[in-house]
Amino acid sequence: MSKNSLTRLFNSFYQDVSEYLLIVENEINRFISDDCELAKMCAYTLNAGGKRIRPLLLLLACEAVNGNIKNALSVSAAVELAHTMGLIQDDIFDNAETRRGKKPVHIVWGIHNAILASDFLFLKSVEAVTSLANLLKGKEQQVIEILNLFVKAGLKAIEGEYLDLIISQRKIASIEECLEVARKKTGAFIKVSLEAGAIIGNAAQTEREALSEYGDSIGVAYQLADDILGLTSLSQTLGKEIGSDIRNGKITVIIAHCLNTCSESQKRAILRTLGNREAEKVEVEEIIEILKECGSIDYAYGLARNYASEAKKKLETLPQTRAKQILGQMAELIVSRQW
Ligand code: IPE
Ligand code: MG
Ligand code: MG
Repeated sequence: MSKNSLTRLFNSFYQDVSEYLLIVENEINRFISDDCELAKMCAYTLNAGGKRIRPLLLLLACEAVNGNIKNALSVSAAVELAHTMGLIQDDIFDNAETRRGKKPVHIVWGIHNAILASDFLFLKSVEAVTSLANLLKGKEQQVIEILNLFVKAGLKAIEGEYLDLIISQRKIASIEECLEVARKKTGAFIKVSLEAGAIIGNAAQTEREALSEYGDSIGVAYQLADDILGLTSLSQTLGKEIGSDIRNGKITVIIAHCLNTCSESQKRAILRTLGNREAEKVEVEEIIEILKECGSIDYAYGLARNYASEAKKKLETLPQTRAKQILGQMAELIVSRQW
């Protein structure tokens, strides 16, 4: 599919979900409207144009099981707040210079403030989840269940980021390890979005499992697409630097595949540049060429497509609704997106 028709597909998707997005935006801003500098730092990141994938998934999961999405609003904000907490920290770890086309919090306000802002978001996300108790009087058990899921997802996301740092330091990792990183650092809050939406919508156990498994698969697909775009997109489109994974020495599925298949001289070239923060643009481009030659980008893309189609299959048991149809589209868009 051409870039233009993809952009059209995206625009029409966001048009279709604009009613959900509007309420999500209001809800997110409700939790970061405090009159303090830390709230402003959070608002700066949150209003920089995120795709709102997680809140959308949460609302759609709730609607797909015939739930009332009004009850899901605060938790949909919570998941974006928690995810953004991770992004502020991740930008420190990855020495990022841009996120969503803007300078990250640690560059604008310094690392100490960025750490405090991410703590602020973490606690605001807890507040957003617990505020659900006001809506679900008599169903406090559901709130505790969702809070537990958030805690578990948060722990998984942290573990994923930790593993990401560890394997980059050791400069070697298996494809399975890279997939584990993806499933944890990115997938955890995606999966929890589906699960929380299902719980709030009073889903039957089988529906909840189907949505959870869908979430598990698109989480991995999302990160694979992210790794590919980080090498093949344009920085203006992506809103972040191209090739930064190479300069930061990240072992992604793409790099792990290439190191397993390339020639000795290609391996030497990769290891020379991988992790060299001062690498010239042409050196990074040389590595990207090797990754292409070895079919490693195609390999990751194929994997991402498989995860996305697995995800779509999981939806089959759900009743035919508009929400289910949009969830199916999202699985496809996640891997074909340009940003
Ligand atoms: C982001 O991982 C991890 C989180 C989801 C917190 P990456 O480091 O791979 O992603 P970008 O490229 O900074 O968004
Ligand atoms: Mg990063
Ligand atoms: Mg990272």
